[in-house]
Amino acid sequence: MRVSVRSSGFVCTLCRSKQSRTVGAQWRRYYSAKESPPKTITIEGRTYPLDSHMNTPPAILANIPRRLHLQKDHPLSITRQIIESRFPDHKRHNALFPVVSVHQNFDSLGFAPDHPGRAPSDTYYINKDTVLRTHTSAHEADTFRANESAGYLISADVYRRDAVDRSHYPVFHQMEGAQTWDRRNFSPYVSLADAIWADVEALPKHDIDVEDPNPTIHPERNPLQRAHHSPEEVEAIAAHLKRSLELVVVEIFTHAQRAAAGTDETASREPLRVRWVEAFFPFTSPSWELEVFWQGDWLEVLGCGVTKQDILIDAGVPERVGWAFGLGLERIAMLLFDIPDIRLFWSKDARFLSQFKEPDGKGEESGMMWDVKRFQSFSKYPAAPRDVAFWLPSTTSPAGGQLPATSGVPRQFHENDVMEVVREVAGSAVEDVRLVDEFVHPKTGRKSLCYRVNYRSLERTFTAEEVNALHEKLRKRLTEDLGVELR
Ligand code: PHE
Repeated sequence: MRVSVRSSGFVCTLCRSKQSRTVGAQWRRYYSAKESPPKTITIEGRTYPLDSHMNTPPAILANIPRRLHLQKDHPLSITRQIIESRFPDHKRHNALFPVVSVHQNFDSLGFAPDHPGRAPSDTYYINKDTVLRTHTSAHEADTFRANESAGYLISADVYRRDAVDRSHYPVFHQMEGAQTWDRRNFSPYVSLADAIWADVEALPKHDIDVEDPNPTIHPERNPLQRAHHSPEEVEAIAAHLKRSLELVVVEIFTHAQRAAAGTDETASREPLRVRWVEAFFPFTSPSWELEVFWQGDWLEVLGCGVTKQDILIDAGVPERVGWAFGLGLERIAMLLFDIPDIRLFWSKDARFLSQFKEPDGKGEESGMMWDVKRFQSFSKYPAAPRDVAFWLPSTTSPAGGQLPATSGVPRQFHENDVMEVVREVAGSAVEDVRLVDEFVHPKTGRKSLCYRVNYRSLERTFTAEEVNALHEKLRKRLTEDLGVELR
């Protein structure tokens, strides 16, 4: 991918405002050392205007062309294909572009205007109307509008500003799936509910142990969309949704158990247990999460629910009703292949990549044996922890620091800002970052934080000099970008 910027005489009014230290100044530093900040950015041939909302570092954009979910023999691609094999008739969308509008990512799905997911501490913005998608649901409305198939799957890279640790990376991959029925095809001869129940009957059965203690519809916790669905219809949609996704779990975890059996004898003998938990998403109701009991813990595998009818109405298909789910491919691939660190997916090291192989022929063929091999870790290189302690910028509130403000809106210090600076300075040289100490000065009310940054390469041993140089750079950048005072 090429990331190019065009400079102009444009003078950034934002840099006058205080928040520009965290957004505008970053934007300048990313894309131009010159006095005039760039006006536009081109990402894989598409050009977007820039403004003060831009908070996406070039290192994040550089991940766009990797498309790991499509890379042959990559564990994410294998995981995708195993799940796809459960939905042979669903249309696949695997090449949707990651830069989307705020409307696609949030508004079209009914996110409230003040939903925290929209915050610049959580989401990578290109400009005030444009983001890197934070989930594959960003394409729901468009895919419903295109109305090309009753069922579809979307696999794609998604981007979130988040913690730095072994299971979080600012780029990861999700799969979204949906199934809808057209009411006009049924009533008045066969009811929609009966038709969906017939489809449930046509799905394969399984013998796993399913806990589902809650009623399908709960007036407060998991409401029916009363204006659009009857309770009978929602019972049928939920049954189809739950069976379809339980079968996904069977598909994945049977492979995982078989692979784990080599190392852990008990794993293969334990019957698979799953449970349905009530959930909330702005774009489904009722909603659930599916959890799997795996190696002693309940593990959240996916989110799903009955699609909000307003999304289908706005997409021009008011007669369709149905369900949708979304899951994280890394999380599933990590347990399927026993991969201990999410950074490994981005490795170009043959010692990692050569361990995984797709089956020959087409993954969708029924009866295909996926030979899932557990990752044989190449030796673990030593960790080099370094602490950094700092005072947050003074604030009127002793509860927390505040970043400089713009347009009268105070910008709270957010831990994700620390994470972003770490990623920019050290990239995947850092395994995790943890808050190890927090302290409020009894007299001044100023708050001090201490983070432990754990440097560790996946591919070699770092020298102490290398780590010290990275850490020094990090300390400097924390003061410059976040206005903190080192202790
Ligand atoms: N988009 C949701 C997430 O990222 C998952 C989801 C998809 C939930 C579709 C319900 C329906 O967590």
